[in-house]
Amino acid sequence: MIRKNRVVAIDGPAGSGKSTVSSTVCQSTGWIYLSTGLLYRAVGLIGEEKGLNLDDEISLGQLIDSFKDTLRWDSKTGHIFYQSRNLSPEIGSVRSGNNASRVAKLPLVREKLLPIQRSFITMAHTGVVMDGRDIGTVVYPEADLKIFMIASLEERAKRRILQLSKEKSPKKPQTFSPELLTDMMRDIAQRDLQDSSRKSAPLKKADDALELDTSGLTFDEVVEKVISLMKERKLLP
Ligand code: C5P
Repeated sequence: MIRKNRVVAIDGPAGSGKSTVSSTVCQSTGWIYLSTGLLYRAVGLIGEEKGLNLDDEISLGQLIDSFKDTLRWDSKTGHIFYQSRNLSPEIGSVRSGNNASRVAKLPLVREKLLPIQRSFITMAHTGVVMDGRDIGTVVYPEADLKIFMIASLEERAKRRILQLSKEKSPKKPQTFSPELLTDMMRDIAQRDLQDSSRKSAPLKKADDALELDTSGLTFDEVVEKVISLMKERKLLP
């Protein structure tokens, strides 16, 4: 019998800690981490570079058809490559997140990215932690463990600013200020609304997902919590 891959699905709103937690969990367990937001970000970035209208699902659908075979994922570094170009330095910006959320509303874009995400799971040689907005509900409802990660808006905005300040991006914010925090909170709230109110695969907790509020927890506590849930499900020894 072919054993199906073990999968942990981590969904939740922007800035809830999904990606940093998932990647650390994978470093300590040897599992592979796949961040599906990178795919939506890649579509937004390349679409914009090619001068496409980011509300036009037909041309974006054609773009995905044309680039899907040249997209490569390095699961060790978490970098995504398009025609051998590393998109990671540009893909983390606020603009890229907003463009990703814009193209993610389009049903054809979601439909075309679905088999790509599933194929990443099938091709993996070990267990997979996959994060996004609809992993537990649409991409992989048969996941062995589903976690819906949340945190307060203010905490998410602070984390996002800290994360951006560590990046090598030329557009990173230089100093922390109350205005920057307000702007970031507004930006995240707008993205939350867009992600949870769209018709196609909106951000929502799967019925069988465990809700994990990371607001009062340290980063290490969240990582430990996820690992202990994986052990409870017998996904780890
Ligand atoms: O997770 P990340 O912030 O990189 O995702 C960027 C955007 O991509 C999200 O705001 C969301 O609109 C979209 N997305 C999605 N479904 C996923 C992953 C990301 O709609 N599974």
